Amino acid sequence: MNTSRKRKRIFRPSYYSSQSSTYLFSVRSFVLSFSFFIFLYLISYTIPFSSLAFRPVLVISSLASSSSNIAKRIQEFDGFITFPWKIENRVLFPDHVLLLVSSLKKDGLIKKSAKELECVYYGKTVLEGNSNGSSGERDPSILVKQNVLSVDEYDECRSIVRCPLPSMNYSSVVNLGRRGKSGVLEEDTGSLMNIQTVHSWENVVYAASLDGNTAVVFVKGLNLRSDRESNPRKFSCHFGLGNRKIDGRFMLRTKALTAAQEVVRCSLPRSVQANPDKAGGIRVTVGIITYGRSRIQEHVLVPSVAKISSFKSEEKKKSEGKYVLCACTMVWNQASALREWIMYHAWLGVERWFIYDNNGDDGIEEVIQELDLEGYNVTRHVWPWIKMQEAGFSHCVLRAKDECNWVSFMDVDEFFYFPYSKPRHKRFRKFGYAGQNSLRTLVANISSSSRSIAEIRTSCHSFGPSGLNSPPSQGVTGGYTCRLQSPERHKSIIRPDALDNTLLNVVHHFHLRKGFKYLNLHQSTAVINHYKYQVWEVFRAKFYRRVATYVADWQQNQNEGSRDRVPGLGTEAIEPPDWPIKFCEFGTTD
Ligand SMILES: *[C@@H]1O[C@H](CO)[C@@H](O)[C@H](O)[C@H]1NC(C)=O
Ligand SMILES: *[C@@H]1O[C@H](CO)[C@@H](O)[C@H](O)[C@H]1NC(C)=O
Ligand SMILES: *[C@@H]1O[C@H](CO)[C@@H](O)[C@H](O)[C@H]1NC(C)=O
Ligand SMILES: *[C@@H]1O[C@H](CO)[C@@H](O)[C@H](O)[C@H]1NC(C)=O
Repeated sequence: MNTSRKRKRIFRPSYYSSQSSTYLFSVRSFVLSFSFFIFLYLISYTIPFSSLAFRPVLVISSLASSSSNIAKRIQEFDGFITFPWKIENRVLFPDHVLLLVSSLKKDGLIKKSAKELECVYYGKTVLEGNSNGSSGERDPSILVKQNVLSVDEYDECRSIVRCPLPSMNYSSVVNLGRRGKSGVLEEDTGSLMNIQTVHSWENVVYAASLDGNTAVVFVKGLNLRSDRESNPRKFSCHFGLGNRKIDGRFMLRTKALTAAQEVVRCSLPRSVQANPDKAGGIRVTVGIITYGRSRIQEHVLVPSVAKISSFKSEEKKKSEGKYVLCACTMVWNQASALREWIMYHAWLGVERWFIYDNNGDDGIEEVIQELDLEGYNVTRHVWPWIKMQEAGFSHCVLRAKDECNWVSFMDVDEFFYFPYSKPRHKRFRKFGYAGQNSLRTLVANISSSSRSIAEIRTSCHSFGPSGLNSPPSQGVTGGYTCRLQSPERHKSIIRPDALDNTLLNVVHHFHLRKGFKYLNLHQSTAVINHYKYQVWEVFRAKFYRRVATYVADWQQNQNEGSRDRVPGLGTEAIEPPDWPIKFCEFGTTD
């Protein structure tokens, strides 16, 4: 153990509590005078340094790769006391580099500083010569800066910063700097070998959540079969309790209990089980078990950026009892659709929304804040993982579990509809529910009539552009009036406590535990109006990005002719001449 580690531990409490300001002051003056001493030492090397007002981790270029211990220790020391963030991990996506940055303060400062931040790239040395971006020598004399793409809150302890991909001769080990300053925030590896890495999005453990006595771990790159349970004995789980990554990165090993698609459920190490409240923040990864030459088990660990998060519902909510009906959805740039969707379903009785934001940049945050201020219980959750809708839904189940008895999984272009809700339809009504809170009452009633029903399936009618050329000003539910005759697919409202342990789901359908069953709602009771084929300017977005894992993007020449694709559309976003009148078989002017 090196000394800087101990020192951090001593200083941490004062940093967090911040009320012991006199203590902090003395620490600070100590640091300042110490820094000044080091400054004198360093200035003889004519090294770039930054003003004390900013105080970033000093990147001492010409010393960075040498092993001048004293300089290194001061870097860390100074960095910890004065710099409010550290880069924990980087993930290389096809179109950006994602940085996970932990805040050493509680108030999510980094978002406020977004405008000041910039991404810093180093030239790759000839030595490194690989483009897969992993650690390597870099040439600190070649350095470029670019604006960050976006900054966002991620989880309890981390923010994300997105940086543009580095250009050809630059390393994807991106760091952060502040505009107009020479200091650079680097990954705090806490080790003397300052190895910096970037993980490939193709193979990485990216999230983990606490669920009772287990941790549910989300893994990209296992390539397990869709809609099937896989053999958990092929995997192991590995936990890293320490704060640092150096020795014994993942010391504790446990069994994988289930594995399916991208989700592995792990037992917790015994020491953590005894105290699950303390599980938050523990690093976790999954091992793939292989057998060596002499049948010796080997665990090939998947690189990980995941820390266990635990969703503690507010005490207030616990005492009030759970919501009857909540909704989870995943969106990508659908901010404009959100208000109508939420207000409509609030009227039908949905009480709580979880919006998983999959890399949108259309200001959905403001829409959600407004709705929240108006009394809708809606929260946004950043889900930066591309094409991971199914995993995101499993994640949302865990989040909703403590708060909700039932959760509806649907898209923001889908609206529950009670066809016989007009007074003149009274005689058709099976259940006496129309009007306000219809959906909640229906769900509550089904719930109380049978404890074994854990999924309510509702058929979806697909609406066409209904002759329109621009988005209807009265909203989608009023504007689109013509649909296909027969329903396509159905969507589910589920009981989170009755799902199979795998949390397996495909196309919004979850596998239920043994002993639970689903109920098909009769179409005369309720249907979902799915505004699937809207006016072209809305529809064409589907060409650029699909959020589901097992759905090919439409620009790829895969799955052509599958049910997921639209009949008559190829791989290009070109409006068919008859688009406005397509998909119109049945008018609904009711
Ligand atoms: C980069 O990729 C090549 C093969 O594509 C591999 O052999 C090499 O080990 C990788 N380098 C690093 C540092 O991961
Ligand atoms: C990258 O570096 C090589 C060798 O140093 C050089 O020949 C090439 O022009 C550089 N490419 C770019 C895009 O800067
Ligand atoms: C939000 O939640 C509270 C209880 O926590 C509930 O009383 C209220 O009706 C909910 N708001 C909406 C619009 O459903
Ligand atoms: C639920 O619906 C049934 C009709 O299917 C009705 O008899 C019953 O009273 C309803 N229960 C509640 C609690 O509303």
